[in-house]
Amino acid sequence: MRLVIVSNRLPFTVSFKDGTPEFKSSSGGLSTGLSSYLQQAAADSADRPDYFWLGWPGASVAPEHQAAVRSYGEEQFKCCPVFLPEESMEHFYHGFCNKTIWPLFHYFPTLTQYEEEFWQEYQNVNRIFGEAVVNALRPDDLVWVHDYHLMLLPRLIREKFPDMPIGFFLHIPFPSYELFRMMPRAWREEMIEGLLGSSVIGFHTHDYTRDFLTSVLRTAGYEHQLGILALRDRVVKVDTFPMGVDFERFAQAAASPETAARVAELRAKCVGQKVIFSVDRLDYTKGIFNRLRGYDLFLKRNPQWHGKVVFIVCVAPSRIGVESYQAMKLDLEQMVGRIIGAYGTVQWTPLIYQYRNLSFEEIVALYRLCDVALITPLRDGMNLVAKEFVASRPDQKGVLVLSEMAGAAKEMGEALIINPFYADDFARALEQGLTLPAEEQMRRNQILQDRLRRYNVNRWADDFIQAMLSTQKTEAARRARLLSGKAYSAMIQQYRAATHRALLLDYDGTLVPFAEEPRQAQPDAEVFDLLAALAADPLNEVAVVSGRPRRDLEGWFGRLPVALVAEHGVWLRGRNGEWRMLKNITTEWKERVRPILQLYVDRLPGALLEEKEFSLAWHFRRADPEQASLRAKELLDDLAGYTRNIDVQVLEGKKVIEIRNTGMNKGAAALEWLNGRAPDFILGVGDDWTDEDLFRALPPAAYSVRVGMANTAARYYLSSHTAVRKALRELAEAERKAGGETPA
Ligand code: G6P
Repeated sequence: MRLVIVSNRLPFTVSFKDGTPEFKSSSGGLSTGLSSYLQQAAADSADRPDYFWLGWPGASVAPEHQAAVRSYGEEQFKCCPVFLPEESMEHFYHGFCNKTIWPLFHYFPTLTQYEEEFWQEYQNVNRIFGEAVVNALRPDDLVWVHDYHLMLLPRLIREKFPDMPIGFFLHIPFPSYELFRMMPRAWREEMIEGLLGSSVIGFHTHDYTRDFLTSVLRTAGYEHQLGILALRDRVVKVDTFPMGVDFERFAQAAASPETAARVAELRAKCVGQKVIFSVDRLDYTKGIFNRLRGYDLFLKRNPQWHGKVVFIVCVAPSRIGVESYQAMKLDLEQMVGRIIGAYGTVQWTPLIYQYRNLSFEEIVALYRLCDVALITPLRDGMNLVAKEFVASRPDQKGVLVLSEMAGAAKEMGEALIINPFYADDFARALEQGLTLPAEEQMRRNQILQDRLRRYNVNRWADDFIQAMLSTQKTEAARRARLLSGKAYSAMIQQYRAATHRALLLDYDGTLVPFAEEPRQAQPDAEVFDLLAALAADPLNEVAVVSGRPRRDLEGWFGRLPVALVAEHGVWLRGRNGEWRMLKNITTEWKERVRPILQLYVDRLPGALLEEKEFSLAWHFRRADPEQASLRAKELLDDLAGYTRNIDVQVLEGKKVIEIRNTGMNKGAAALEWLNGRAPDFILGVGDDWTDEDLFRALPPAAYSVRVGMANTAARYYLSSHTAVRKALRELAEAERKAGGETPA
């Protein structure tokens, strides 16, 4: 097995100086985190899969340099660069990625630009990546796609490799639907469909997972069960995997004599001062400006700290091609100047600002040196800096001040958590942090370290990969139950060989697709034709087994020589055309229950009440899905009280709650119909929970088939009503062909 990582950015970035390529390592959570994991993987390849990494090398590379970049990537990192044309960068990377998705997903709708050219190029680059991945893949690979640049990719890979385990991890927040819906409908639909090409979709926090699931429901209509989305022919698992850091790497580096020497050197430069430290990529989401405002307020309120504190602000250059980044850099530098100008003296500079990439060793020394780490993004998918800082403190000292808007805050409650929009919070947290007793610092850091050491980056990646593998296993088991290939041929053979066959077919969702309203789901010519063809065979007996009222079934199929079961088994019409009731039941309960359902129809726009002879059904397929699911729960709750002492059952179907008399179901009706017959071939097909009664009642050798994905008592699956029709058509024709071959 080989792990194929795909991300926009590779762990290295190439740039050209006087025409020669130069390489440096990339900044940002994704590349730092994953590189650590993969280096580890390469070191103990016994436990971890072999891997290779596909991505963009960070600049456009002229054809004459491509070979050099390729071999550098292969040798140093097992990377395979995907070269993108220079023109793509403007609309793809600077455009759709960093002017559309990035601001919107980080809750900066006012910075978000919606340009059709950006979107076109985003699709185009995803296709370029798609081709590169598909060409590189081997059938037993595991693909793991990363981040917001490549959200259309899982589906593109799935089209070529339908059974491949494909993971997707989003390193940034997934926003609330109210933000996501600001994207044009066609774009957001395609993004969701693109992501749903994955087998596993992961997010840093539970909030993002929840928001994503809401967007899936509202955009594509799929409801989830404990994070599992059942698509037509496969399932997608959506879950939370908070990314960790390579704890030991930081812990060891921080404890090394080299770091100790560096720290001593830095300390000597700020004798008598407490050190506050922050490091970020230059990005408006990181809230550097707000942080400086907060520091300003702290200094204003606390003259006693003047001369006794210094704030080291390190900023790594990033995305300089995007205008909003340039504007922010200017604002920031002005603010730095203002603070130094306002408080600085000949002996004391309150702030040290560095705009450059720091080396790993430099960062670790600063983590180790500082008294307070001020990590306060306005919004951040996770923020690994906070975790790296904690890992870099073998002395367990140092205070972490962390924004509640960082994903990391969910796991790091022992930090001083602040709201980064509120300058007062900074001032207070700094006052508290700079004076927090050492024992209290150690108590907090101990808990944080224990957690981060356990849930480190390896654990994160291993968990994610395990989720992919186990989803693949369940998928394989499910595929084995798909009524196709050998199982399908065997069924056709048995059908041919049989002398007495019984076919029990559900109606809605099995013979016809679901419609907005039950009465719209009329049978079309093909359904009549199929039923007629099957029923015309003297060896066959066909029954339509439905929850529909008698009048619907009679109206549609009355003239066909088929049996009809109505209202989930209350009524049976045999071939002779007479309806009879299978159990004597009363309906007085309806008077009590109807007003309750009516009330819920009024409370939920789009809901409707269907009255059948022996049941009442509250349908909500046209209603707002989230509100409907809430109301459905309330209704179930209400009904539980009313129906406790009467002989009815409350059943939850597909977008419907139905109340009916107990003791009747499709299974009991099927047995009643089969009574006295001894078919040597039985087929039972259905698509929801009411059909499960039928599956359970049929003998084990029967072909019971569930339409769509679900836990089922049926032996086989089919994907949709179209697949059912195709199978029935083949059965009808199989007989004809066989008939042709057998002499009369
Ligand atoms: C964040 C994103 C990454 C991205 C990194 C650096 O961590 O989640 O996907 O690579 O920032 O940004 P850049 O635009 O330089 O790749």
